[in-house]
Amino acid sequence: MKGAAIATTLTLGASTVLAGPSIKARADATPITVKGNAFFKGNERFYMRGVDYQPGGSSQLSDPIADIDGCKRDIENFKSLGLNTIRVYSVDNSKNHDECMNALADAGIYLVLDVNTPKYSLNRASPKGSYNDVYLQYIFATVDAFANYKNTLAFFSGNEVINDGPSSKAAPYVKAVTRDLRQYIRSRKYREIPVGYSAADIDTNRLQMAQFMNCGTDDERSDFFAFNDYSWCDPSSFTTSGWDQKVKNFTGYGLPLFLSEYGCNTNKRQFQEVGSLYNKDMTGVYSGGLVYEYSEEPSKYGLVEINGGKVKTLPDFDALKSAFEKTSNPQGDGGYNKTGGANPCPAKDSPNWDVDTDALPAIPDGAKKYMTDGAGKGDGFGGKGSMSGGGSVSTGTAQPGSGSATGGSSGSSGSSSSSAGVMNLPNVSLAPVVVGMVTVLSTLMGAGLILV
Ligand SMILES: *[C@@H]1O[C@H](CO)[C@@H](O)[C@H](O)[C@H]1NC(C)=O
Ligand SMILES: *[C@@H]1O[C@H](CO)[C@@H](O)[C@H](O)[C@H]1NC(C)=O
Repeated sequence: MKGAAIATTLTLGASTVLAGPSIKARADATPITVKGNAFFKGNERFYMRGVDYQPGGSSQLSDPIADIDGCKRDIENFKSLGLNTIRVYSVDNSKNHDECMNALADAGIYLVLDVNTPKYSLNRASPKGSYNDVYLQYIFATVDAFANYKNTLAFFSGNEVINDGPSSKAAPYVKAVTRDLRQYIRSRKYREIPVGYSAADIDTNRLQMAQFMNCGTDDERSDFFAFNDYSWCDPSSFTTSGWDQKVKNFTGYGLPLFLSEYGCNTNKRQFQEVGSLYNKDMTGVYSGGLVYEYSEEPSKYGLVEINGGKVKTLPDFDALKSAFEKTSNPQGDGGYNKTGGANPCPAKDSPNWDVDTDALPAIPDGAKKYMTDGAGKGDGFGGKGSMSGGGSVSTGTAQPGSGSATGGSSGSSGSSSSSAGVMNLPNVSLAPVVVGMVTVLSTLMGAGLILV
């Protein structure tokens, strides 16, 4: 491949940066945290107003956060729309992202990042073989490349891996990857960046998947859940679209929830759903969402058209901008659930939910060392990929609690799940357990004083 030589050079550059004292990330952006079933920016509730951003899609894969000119060009449009979040589906973890990430931070924009690429991801048809150490090394290296940016809002551990009943068999692997990413973040002593899954738009097992990702010990649970939803097709309403049922179904769910893709394009888009999404009808359960998608691609969901490096806004851009302008966030905390917490695992219900056991596969032996030693350099888009296997795969079932931080400060290993029985401790602080407990208490009391 003709990109190989370039990739190697950039890889060396990236490892130099990693070996240095720190990435030159902006220090003054406020990181987003999780409390109960909501996101917070400091003491203020944070609702995602975002778009999905991957010009070229997966067929003409390029890393938009490594494209400095494109990034700066598009930030002007993000600001014009009033966005605070973008989602990117794939990045090249061998490249440097400082300039775009800092420009985004300057604009008040956060990144939700999928850690996977077409070559490095779980294969729903062979989850066991594709859950291997080569894969984990790649996605851990992606975490390394983005963890020091304060405007990295969250990582997606997977996107639409399960897209029907039979593929729900892959759910324990999706959950294992989520566990491993969270363990990696804690073990490497990064900020507690939320990790969760983005589910496909399917009614038959959406709720089970959400429950599955939030059951079990704290080390095995997610920090949030998201799903793609194209069911609101203008002209429509909260009840006609069935979104009222999606609020009802998820009321009492203990994690932050948001739409990772929305924006049905069957009819002319008016983005009427924006008026409901940021209304108290929904904000007790949902934290906003991400419109699919920024750039016009063959599927015709674009807000803008990008041609020869030039960008032109389309009618949908104006429609979304005016919908956002008309819609402010609710007063106060939007009625979020301060408690949050785990739920029971869903029962097997084949063919829709074909998961036999709540137990998860253990991390492949060959990947354990990354927790203590770090992942090392990422091979980027030019890498060989991990789907054909060749690495070490999982050979057994994980003990609950096995995903607690390893290689952290003395005494913290293994104890965080047992000490966090009532709350999702890892959501709140990356600090060692003793300090973490104090932080939890003061965070809760602080939140109580301000928000009640
Ligand atoms: C709500 O949950 C029920 C039971 O799981 C399910 O049958 C229904 O399709 C769900 N509705 C929506 C809109 O997700
Ligand atoms: C808040 O979340 C907890 C934990 O998931 C749940 O038990 C409770 O019913 C929720 N409360 C409301 C009002 O939804």
